[in-house]
Amino acid sequence: MKKILITGGAGYIGSHTAVELWNAGMEPIILDDFSNSEAKVLDRLEEITGKRFTFYQGDCNDKTVLDSIGKAHQIEGVIHFAAFKAVGESTAKPLKYYKNNVGSLVLLLEFMQEQGIKDLVFSSSCTVYGQPEVLPVTEATPRQEAESPYGNTKKICEDILIDYVKSKPGIRVISLRYFNPVGAHPSSKIGELPLGTPNNLVPFITQVAAGIREKLTVFGADYDTMDGSCVRDYIHVVDLADAHVKAFSFLNQQPENFYDVFNVGTGNGNTVLEVIYAFEKVSGQKLNYVIGPRRPGDVVKTWADTTKIKTVLGWQPKYSLEDSMRDSWNWQKGLK
Ligand code: WQD
Repeated sequence: MKKILITGGAGYIGSHTAVELWNAGMEPIILDDFSNSEAKVLDRLEEITGKRFTFYQGDCNDKTVLDSIGKAHQIEGVIHFAAFKAVGESTAKPLKYYKNNVGSLVLLLEFMQEQGIKDLVFSSSCTVYGQPEVLPVTEATPRQEAESPYGNTKKICEDILIDYVKSKPGIRVISLRYFNPVGAHPSSKIGELPLGTPNNLVPFITQVAAGIREKLTVFGADYDTMDGSCVRDYIHVVDLADAHVKAFSFLNQQPENFYDVFNVGTGNGNTVLEVIYAFEKVSGQKLNYVIGPRRPGDVVKTWADTTKIKTVLGWQPKYSLEDSMRDSWNWQKGLK
């Protein structure tokens, strides 16, 4: 069974990807420092899959941890999720983000070189596109100046991968540019852990609905969109996880020194208000929200053109926005 190292594998997207890798007949080896996840996620993964995944607690900036994994296992691929991802925090603490997000990728590439590991799937983000001039966004859409140090680390990491592959180290790499990950596993055993105040829309919505927070503020309803609120492409986390499985299967058939990029989204844009209405419909309850001022730095509208990932990787999203709202709400209700 092929062993795949997942850095950040106890996190939101990492844990869902571990399940889908296992379902596809691959064995996840999880490395996580629990800076944005918890040990109980490993118990939940065992409940879902019946398998206790091999786990290493540690920082992927720590070479000794990586070396111990390389000594113990024949790793055949890596998915690199581990990164700090709070846009606002990255502006306040840029060095923390550059050191961790960029530094860990360089160390991981050195580790792969030493271990002869060939395949890497990198967690990138639609944030590299900024506010696209033309919609929907294709992989040929020019990347723009990052709106935050977080977004810049994703651009820099993509450039590192391009330059490294050009040096012909023999590896094969795919960068997946995620649009907005939402939802939770249908079992409600894993989901987005509420560690601190949510930065993102959907966990904020579910915490308001659960009475944890008083109200949601919609950050602006005076934009040039269908209803004035911002447009995003909300992709169910299980669909996103499946894209990583398809990426590995595809990498297997590629020549050495391969690099490519794929958008991962539904191909549809929804406004903030449409997300709220979808949540109200599936939860059967009204959400307490107000319209507030715009959030500085917000992209007004973006959504993915998914032609490339569908035709090249054979990937297809299966979950709708309402499915995502249902699964997010069920996850929230299950939290103590
Ligand atoms: C979505 C929409 C807000 C909260 C960020 C990162 C991106 C990725 C996903 C990591 C926007 C509106 C939000 C609220 C609101 N992260 N909103 N009230 O900013 O599109 O993307 O998270 O990979 O890289 O940039 O996501 O969920 O913060 O916002 O009105 O309380 O919801 O204005 O229009 P965003 P988000």
